[in-house]
Amino acid sequence: MANKIFVDACLGKETPYTPVWMMRQAGRYLPEYMAVRAEAGNFLNLCHDPEKACEVSLQPVDIVGVDAAIMFSDILVIPDEMGMDLSFVKGEGPKFSDPLETQADVDRLIGGEEAASKLTYVYDTIKLIKERLAEDKALIGFTGAPWTLATYMIEGQGTKTYNICKKMMYSNPELLHNILAKVTEVVKLYMEKQIQAGIDVVQIFDSWASAIELGKYDEFSWKYMVEIADYLKSKYPDTPIIMFPKGIPAFIERGLVYGNFDVFGVDWGTPMALAKEKLGDKYVLQGNMEPCRLYSKEATTACVEAIQEIMGGKRHIFNLGHGILPDVPVENAKHFVSECQRVSKKQ
Ligand code: CP3
Repeated sequence: MANKIFVDACLGKETPYTPVWMMRQAGRYLPEYMAVRAEAGNFLNLCHDPEKACEVSLQPVDIVGVDAAIMFSDILVIPDEMGMDLSFVKGEGPKFSDPLETQADVDRLIGGEEAASKLTYVYDTIKLIKERLAEDKALIGFTGAPWTLATYMIEGQGTKTYNICKKMMYSNPELLHNILAKVTEVVKLYMEKQIQAGIDVVQIFDSWASAIELGKYDEFSWKYMVEIADYLKSKYPDTPIIMFPKGIPAFIERGLVYGNFDVFGVDWGTPMALAKEKLGDKYVLQGNMEPCRLYSKEATTACVEAIQEIMGGKRHIFNLGHGILPDVPVENAKHFVSECQRVSKKQ
């Protein structure tokens, strides 16, 4: 079997060059994605159609040359299958019609095995991708962190202030913990089923980590992510786990990162040198180019070289420090990938 350099790098092994992928790499900047989405009718139909979801998962590998595919889906299919009626409103993003307000709402949510078993279209997508992905490329599965998922479940949509979920955090913390615990149970089983279906690596996205004050982050987010990682590692010790909490440089600075995972995803607001100093011995680091640098090839090359200089091709995976934006030229994304491979290639 061919070696997957992405998996080797996640486990801290030496690789011929530093592998690279991009968060949100399967998406709207690719005309080929837009064509398949148009055929599917809308985004959620695409998530529910394993054949088409497989096709768009493979596009960035074939077109842009990344070292790993990420299965095409969305973090919000989890609350959807817990009974929360997800829709995507054009130009406005995700919406839940009946956000969680009370314990009775939480009790009504479908939990555990029953919810995880409803996500069959995700597991079918994974199986199809594994049949078609080149042997030397890895497949990444993913979930949202319980906190990030809970923000949508409580607010009913994206938010700038997080005021509804933070009101709950400070005035009814027990209710918020009940939501987080119920989501955590589903996520554990969901990720386990993704591994059983064939994913090589797990990534946990805590995109809205930065909404929580430093002293509360562990209690309301990190410890749930660690619980998920512990569960998966106890059963699947060889499957690497990537934690990506966006916007927590102060948490890193104070050495508050702990847990049984392999790779720490560094967001673009955290200096790579700080992450290396505080976490580099314990975790492989992924990241962290500011995604808007992709608008300029020169700005991209300068950043790739600077990151390479800091990391020295060791215990590192190239990525953006958050998702690629829809108006980035495909050519610039290709340039990013080839520059990462060029600067890190060992003689
Ligand atoms: O390559 C990939 O990463 C594809 C799979 C993927 C999607 N969403 C597809 C998607 C992944 C890993 C996600 C994760 C996701 N979804 C996150 C965490 C990652 C991050 O960027 O912080 C979050 C917060 C969501 C929730 C979500 N989904 C929002 C807020 C939106 C609307 C905003 C937007 O980006 O358009 C989505 C929709 C979504 N998910 C799209 C895609 C390709 C765009 C839908 C479309 O085709 O119109």
